[in-house]
Amino acid sequence: MVIGNSLARGRECKLQITNYQLQSPACMPSLTLRVLFWELCLEDVMAGLVDVHAHLIPGVDDGCLTLDDSLACGRAFVKAGYVRACCTPHIWPQFPANVARNIRRWVGELQAAYDEAGIALKLTAGGEINLESNWPALRLLGREEIVSYGFLGKYVLFDFWAEEFPDYLVPGIEYLQGLGFTLIMAHPERLKVFHRNVDLIERVEKMGVLLQCNSWCLMDPVGTPNRDVSERLLKDRRYFLLGTDTHSSMAAHSSKGMKSRLAGIERARELAGAGYVEELTVGNAIKVVDE
Ligand SMILES: [Fe+2]
Repeated sequence: MVIGNSLARGRECKLQITNYQLQSPACMPSLTLRVLFWELCLEDVMAGLVDVHAHLIPGVDDGCLTLDDSLACGRAFVKAGYVRACCTPHIWPQFPANVARNIRRWVGELQAAYDEAGIALKLTAGGEINLESNWPALRLLGREEIVSYGFLGKYVLFDFWAEEFPDYLVPGIEYLQGLGFTLIMAHPERLKVFHRNVDLIERVEKMGVLLQCNSWCLMDPVGTPNRDVSERLLKDRRYFLLGTDTHSSMAAHSSKGMKSRLAGIERARELAGAGYVEELTVGNAIKVVDE
């Protein structure tokens, strides 16, 4: 079953539950329909999480190094309730092979390995474009060569690293928006420029850029900039997506192991409520990978 349909139907079901509760369960037309109704509801209540930021393709960037590592991440995702993950390898000039054509093939191969290993995680292709190193060269690319979620040509995930508000940021964003993409800025809470002046994030938001939070930042020690900024943006409901940015199953290899990345999702629920987190990890995430 297509998850998107399931979710849409889930909303319908929830609405119907309310209506029926207001009236009476007996108002349902027949026993068969009642059973079907509850089955649909149960399935929809159990709609799984979708990770929108993961470096699962082995050996193509600083993410998973081996297939075994990637399979271990997949198993951890499933155990934590995920049903889908988007592979978002770094799009940097130093990784010249990370282009749409290859990413699509690698994700297909990884999906086959997951299927063979019995890991029930549906993978989608995507990428994380580093604006700093790809600007202005990306203006030479055709629109179809710019890596978007699911290669659907709608949502583009980008990052940059800066201590001051960089000159390329506004023109880079405007250029990609001019091509019709909706831009999503990865982990603003990690950027020193925003640690120094958190109000600058608003300048980017006012351009129509959506924000994606890295879950592990919510697990950083109290009082550290990543944690302060992520908590503030989350409590103010300014994020559109909450991802893990998984790089490895091994904490020793990755700066943050999967444990804190997944624990961060639970922490987000405590801070901002399960409903908002479901929006970020299911509703909006499905929009991004499917629309
Ligand atoms: Fe990333």
